[in-house]
Amino acid sequence: MSKEKKKVISDYNGYDYKKIFWEDADRKYEDMADRMAIRKLLPKDMRKFVDIAGGYGRLADEYIPRAKDATLFDYSQTELDQAKEQYGKKLHTVQGDIYNLPFKDGEFSTLLMVRATHHFKDMDKVLAELYRILEPGGIAVIEVANKKTLPRMMRYWRGKTDISPFDHSVANLADVDKDGFYNYHPKYMENLFRKTGFKIGKVLSVSNFRSAKMKKVFGNKNLIRMEKVAQKTLAPVRFAPSIYYKLEKPSATK
Ligand SMILES: C[S@@+](CC[C@H](N)C(=O)[O-])C[C@H]1O[C@@H](n2cnc3c(N)ncnc32)[C@H](O)[C@@H]1O
Repeated sequence: MSKEKKKVISDYNGYDYKKIFWEDADRKYEDMADRMAIRKLLPKDMRKFVDIAGGYGRLADEYIPRAKDATLFDYSQTELDQAKEQYGKKLHTVQGDIYNLPFKDGEFSTLLMVRATHHFKDMDKVLAELYRILEPGGIAVIEVANKKTLPRMMRYWRGKTDISPFDHSVANLADVDKDGFYNYHPKYMENLFRKTGFKIGKVLSVSNFRSAKMKKVFGNKNLIRMEKVAQKTLAPVRFAPSIYYKLEKPSATK
């Protein structure tokens, strides 16, 4: 790994992400939006599944019923312990660093990675690792923190930021987190997915109405109804903060 791309780990050890980020904040809409997308994109019947950077297993009740064997992988032991407490033997937990996944080549039939790309600077290496651990014909469902959102465009046009949402390069939003907080342009990610070897399948636009104002005006229930329609309809414009990709590692050709 070059010095320029030196990895930084966003360490969640000792941080109660579950309570602080999800339970104490009003994020029912965002949680539901993720679940809707996952229900549409994850295969119904999975041989061997892994949730990469899956935290405390927020989404485990979505994938455990679909998987013969489910693993939760994360850097933070704090989060893995919380997951183990809730799911016990239904979920294997494995600690490690995404840049060197402790899994064999082709070990999994399906993987999921949600709300994690913003932590990774060396996306080439991350995608190479994800590709490596999937079997030929395997499926990866990956959520990308989008750089090209409508609020960012407004800020840019009003001169409030120098970061152009239209530029394909990676945005390091150092003001959000000193350890780095990266947003990716959909075009950049799509090129990288293809370069890694993935075939891009279904794409969904997710968390389209992620805004405190929208929550106040419409309420979570209505936003969730609107989200249901928007995930597919708005996918072609790729303006939402989360873009979900269903990717396939092609089967080996003879
Ligand atoms: C925002 S949380 C998302 C958790 C979960 N996917 C969800 O949607 O609830 C990001 C997760 O990435 C994990 N993480 C950050 N850097 C990592 C790394 N280098 N290797 C493995 N996991 C990492 C953190 O420990 C944290 O659990």
